[in-house]
Amino acid sequence: MRMRKKRHLEPRMEQCKALLAARGRPCLNLKEAAENFRALLDYSTLFGNENPVELEVGCGNGGFIFELSRRNPDTNFLAVEVCSNVILTAMEHCLKEGISNVRFLNIPAEILPCYIPDGSVEKIYLNFSTPLPETSREKQRLTSSRFLPIYRAMLKEGGKIVQKTDSEEFFDYSLSKFREHGFEVGEVTRDLHRSEYATENIVTEYEKNFSEKGMPIFRAVAVKVK
Ligand SMILES: C[S@@+](CC[C@H](N)C(=O)[O-])C[C@H]1O[C@@H](n2cnc3c(N)ncnc32)[C@H](O)[C@@H]1O
Repeated sequence: MRMRKKRHLEPRMEQCKALLAARGRPCLNLKEAAENFRALLDYSTLFGNENPVELEVGCGNGGFIFELSRRNPDTNFLAVEVCSNVILTAMEHCLKEGISNVRFLNIPAEILPCYIPDGSVEKIYLNFSTPLPETSREKQRLTSSRFLPIYRAMLKEGGKIVQKTDSEEFFDYSLSKFREHGFEVGEVTRDLHRSEYATENIVTEYEKNFSEKGMPIFRAVAVKVK
């Protein structure tokens, strides 16, 4: 079902523009844009400091990134979300709460190379990305061979991808894709909420729904190695 467009979407997006580092797509062909269009972010201008940068792909309403930014005031965070309706909620909250270390990219992750300088990101968070089990949609999975070279290029040496999901099939697929693309996989748990990582875990909106239904949460960390 298609989500109804939020009332006054455009003027409300305009009110949040100080938080919005990028929006839309430079051309219809995402592959062409990713290869040819460059408008690389200057983090010191964007955040007004030289702090390390972490990034979440598919931030939804932003609950995870806000808690993470509160716990880590000396880190800058980029929240990426393709859906304007959804990112607007996150940006309005950020503005209202005066959160200073989060900025937003309302773009498809396919065109991250247009904006994110190579080797500039410490960590990437993939929280409950849609598993898309249909073979025909494999390329759209956020841990497919289409996206992992993009993440690899953005990450510093030793940089990490932290993945959480409710889907065991998608989890196993992702672990094998991480290894295929030059990542070492560690901190693997198939029941996050009953693991040693539970105390520091920030529960996302989707995670809350899944775990309330009694579903286990899968989590792993993939480290970029040479
Ligand atoms: C299942 S929701 C999870 C939201 C949130 N991370 C959570 O755990 O509550 C997945 C989100 O990823 C976004 N998304 C899916 N594909 C994307 C892409 N290619 N680029 C950017 N965002 C994407 C969707 O719009 C959606 O908001």
